[in-house]
Amino acid sequence: MPDIRHTLTIAKEEGWAVGAFNAANISTLKAIFRAAQKLEAPVIIESSVGETEFFGHRAFREVIDSYRDLYDVQAFINLDHAVALESINEAIRVGYELVHFDGGELPYEDNVKLAKKVVKKAHQKELLVEGEIDHITGSSKLHKSKAAQVQAEGNYTEAARAAEFVKATNVDTLAVFIGNVHGIYADSPELDLERLQEISKTVDSFLSLHGGSGIRDADIKKAIKNGISKINVNSELRLAFFNTLKDTLKTTDELAAYKFMTPVIDEVQKVVEKKIKVFGSAGKAKSKWLRRSI
Ligand code: G3H
Ligand code: ZN
Repeated sequence: MPDIRHTLTIAKEEGWAVGAFNAANISTLKAIFRAAQKLEAPVIIESSVGETEFFGHRAFREVIDSYRDLYDVQAFINLDHAVALESINEAIRVGYELVHFDGGELPYEDNVKLAKKVVKKAHQKELLVEGEIDHITGSSKLHKSKAAQVQAEGNYTEAARAAEFVKATNVDTLAVFIGNVHGIYADSPELDLERLQEISKTVDSFLSLHGGSGIRDADIKKAIKNGISKINVNSELRLAFFNTLKDTLKTTDELAAYKFMTPVIDEVQKVVEKKIKVFGSAGKAKSKWLRRSI
């Protein structure tokens, strides 16, 4: 069975990143699976606590298991930005491969204490835990403002403090804040790549980049070069979904959802394919390193 720790290790070594795409409905799931199948890319499929409650933890697991076999895709599940232990425990119970314990808005000591607790439980089932100390600002939607306004609301990740957190908690992945913000803005956010380089040299864990929507492709590539192995994308998928559905419904009298959703799936798939190509993960699922059983 492919293993996400192994996949991220290879990604880090080879200099590419695994795309982590948010989905909370069948059409987005299909778009991700089709893109991953076509480009032979390993993918993480994730949902926030709200998205997961809408879908159901177990239902999400079971549908993804079923699609994983149907499409023959290396797909792993992540519970994204969860602070509530009930949701995390349920994700662990039903067998997600990753959980993101987001204690970024908690006092540091509480964050450490709870992250340790989550790691202890998750590691018993060989799940990977992602931690966060610096709240990643913004929300996954279209914003009229410039990115700088939202960036200014956050505290940029400091390498020594990040290293201390990873050491104290033993989290497997750290979500860094280097100017990356959730959502799409009037301009692209500027990333502090020097800071990332420093974090990457100092911190002993995988590094994830949240807010993967709206960042220039060239900057994404530089971030990967400087140690990012997992990139989260939500808003660009949501926007393609919303705009295509709105346009389709204006021009059709079709009542069957599975028919009028076809162009929606196609457009979301295009976004996922574009991201996979930028992340360098295309073709990696067929690599002998990822296929080997471990
Ligand atoms: O955790 C999810 C991501 O960080 C999504 O960010 O909506 O800017 O793509 P995004
Ligand atoms: Zn995020």
